Amino acid sequence: MSKLCIIGTGYVGLVTGTCFAEVGHQVICVDNNAEKVRMLREGGIPIYEPGLEEMIPRNVAAGRLSFTDSIAEGVQGSDIVFIAVPTPPQPDGSVDLSFIEGVAREIAGCMTAYKIIVDKSTVPVKTGEKVAETIKRYNRSKVDFDVVSNPEFLREGFAVEDLMHPDRVVVGVTSPRPVKAMQEVYEPFGAPIIVTDINSAELIKHAANSFLALKISYANALSVLCEATGANVVEVANGMGLDKRIGRQFLNAGIGFGGSCFPKDLSAFIKIAEQLGFDFRLLKEVQTINSAQMDRFVRKISDTLWVLKDKRLGVLGLAFKQNTDDVRMSPAIDLCQRLLKEGAVLRVYDPKAMDKAKAILPPGDRITYVDAMEDVAEGCDALVVATEWPDFAKLDLERLREQLSHPIVFDGRNIFDKQEMERLGFLYKSVGR
Ligand code: UGA
Repeated sequence: MSKLCIIGTGYVGLVTGTCFAEVGHQVICVDNNAEKVRMLREGGIPIYEPGLEEMIPRNVAAGRLSFTDSIAEGVQGSDIVFIAVPTPPQPDGSVDLSFIEGVAREIAGCMTAYKIIVDKSTVPVKTGEKVAETIKRYNRSKVDFDVVSNPEFLREGFAVEDLMHPDRVVVGVTSPRPVKAMQEVYEPFGAPIIVTDINSAELIKHAANSFLALKISYANALSVLCEATGANVVEVANGMGLDKRIGRQFLNAGIGFGGSCFPKDLSAFIKIAEQLGFDFRLLKEVQTINSAQMDRFVRKISDTLWVLKDKRLGVLGLAFKQNTDDVRMSPAIDLCQRLLKEGAVLRVYDPKAMDKAKAILPPGDRITYVDAMEDVAEGCDALVVATEWPDFAKLDLERLREQLSHPIVFDGRNIFDKQEMERLGFLYKSVGR
């Protein structure tokens, strides 16, 4: 059992801390938002993530998981301190590292014995060096410490599953001293542990996310060719994906990727490369294809419905992907904003993300939030699918056809069976099929 402190209780920090406690470690989670800490202490959970709701109370009750707003309390009560604070983008695409720097200074100021300080946030290569310099500078007690890079690869919506069963764990170090302790932390998860230098560990994270984004843009580019030739992008992806060297995952064409990671990490990686003297044009093209994909989808809607002003559209999905309440950089929200700008009137539904969406798209004359997916299309001119929630595919299609004033469906996530939709008499437009 290790004594661990996690600083930051966002999607990464909270799920990581909880899963560490689940396997038996002693975990204290720190957040500077006292309100959030109070909520967590009272059993509330600030995010939706499948499995988390049962795990947090179980581990709190077992005395393995606790919450505080004091970094000093967290650091002094543990041997390993994980930093999981936000690294938001700046207007020029580079990463704002001020939260990391601030936390590093605070940790340094309250260390009274040897600590391992682990960066879990996604950061540009060479950040570990800066963190080490900062800690050295503000380390009043002059105690020993090691800095480790341990990037996180969890997907939102599958965070618990990904953390409990990781494909691999990456541990970047500058000395052998912290390796054994890190191995002990991850040993219960049974995944291969890759021990490397810090710069490589930091690069692995940006390289992996950018490659996954590249795969999606590749599929989206293929969808254009499929539409031009009558081929089917799903069949093409299946045919490619069975090749073990390629793999089927992240080859789903749609309205483009979003979320708080891929768009940000791509921009950051392009910027990092630029600062290192390399023009990463390949990744710039990934961005271009991604935004063109949304443009093409909106055009598909307006080409079919012609004038969008005062057209009533039902929209299924607001989250940036299935299984999450997260709407940050959500393609679904972007799509709604574009449709509203064209003058459309929207009825929207999402199983988990409506509360968070309301902060960006306040309900009003032009946008109504409905409580059930079955009601979203009532009296609408067409239905639009914007997020790949599995439940949406279970919609009663005959009822849907009766609810729509014209049986038109724009499926931005290819969730319905094309032949079935056509057999039922829908004018059905999906992506690359
Ligand atoms: C992503 C990575 O998958 C994680 O490994 C990583 O840890 C995380 O970023 C992070 O850096 O924190 P996440 O952003 O939670 O995870 O979600 P993904 O499942 O990767 O989906 C990202 C976007 O791509 C979504 O908008 C999704 O709809 C879209 N997508 C995904 C597609 O359009 N097609 C696909 O085939 C797959």
